[in-house]
Amino acid sequence: MPERSLLQDAAGVAPALFRRVCGAFATGVAVAAVTGRDGKPHGLTVNSFTSVSLHPPLVLVCVGRKAATHGPFSTAAHFAVNFLDESQRELSERFASSHPRRFEGLSWQAGETGAPLLDGALGVLECETWRRMDAGDHTIFLGFVKGARVRGGRPLIYFSGQYRRLDGA
Ligand SMILES: Cc1cc2nc3c(=O)[nH]c(=O)nc-3n(C[C@H](O)[C@H](O)[C@H](O)COP(=O)(O)O)c2cc1C
Repeated sequence: MPERSLLQDAAGVAPALFRRVCGAFATGVAVAAVTGRDGKPHGLTVNSFTSVSLHPPLVLVCVGRKAATHGPFSTAAHFAVNFLDESQRELSERFASSHPRRFEGLSWQAGETGAPLLDGALGVLECETWRRMDAGDHTIFLGFVKGARVRGGRPLIYFSGQYRRLDGA
């Protein structure tokens, strides 16, 4: 019998069930990154990336308001989204951890917008921050895509709280 929840109060679905059901939606994994006012790179692992519009080319990422990276994101004029390759699981773990200097020892460069681009990423989008919207405990950052590049490879996948790989099919 599938688990379900009836809306019984204004608070909405129970958080644990909400997380579990959202986890049933398989996604890629990305590192969203900005150059802060301090001139340093800041980034975090996200799977909230969504492509939104073709004309104009818009994408979004959602960043938790409690995330340390939220501050640099809120003041940055540009951000990059680095789609991770299946070989970059450790990068995903690093950018989702409390690692104090996440870019240390990594191979990366500033893109044309100044946003940090990770070498080896499956694809990269460079965006101008177009809108910021409060959304509960997250902020939605809508980006106007100014630059993009893609290379062959296989994506890192996140499903049901675990990293996965595409099988050979
Ligand atoms: C697969 C995966 C996807 C994640 N997606 C998001 C996301 O979309 N938005 C977000 O705010 N945090 C997301 N997180 C959690 C952040 O990466 C994590 O909280 C990170 O430590 C925040 O770093 P900061 O506090 O230094 O900014 C995700 C974590 C994982 C492992």
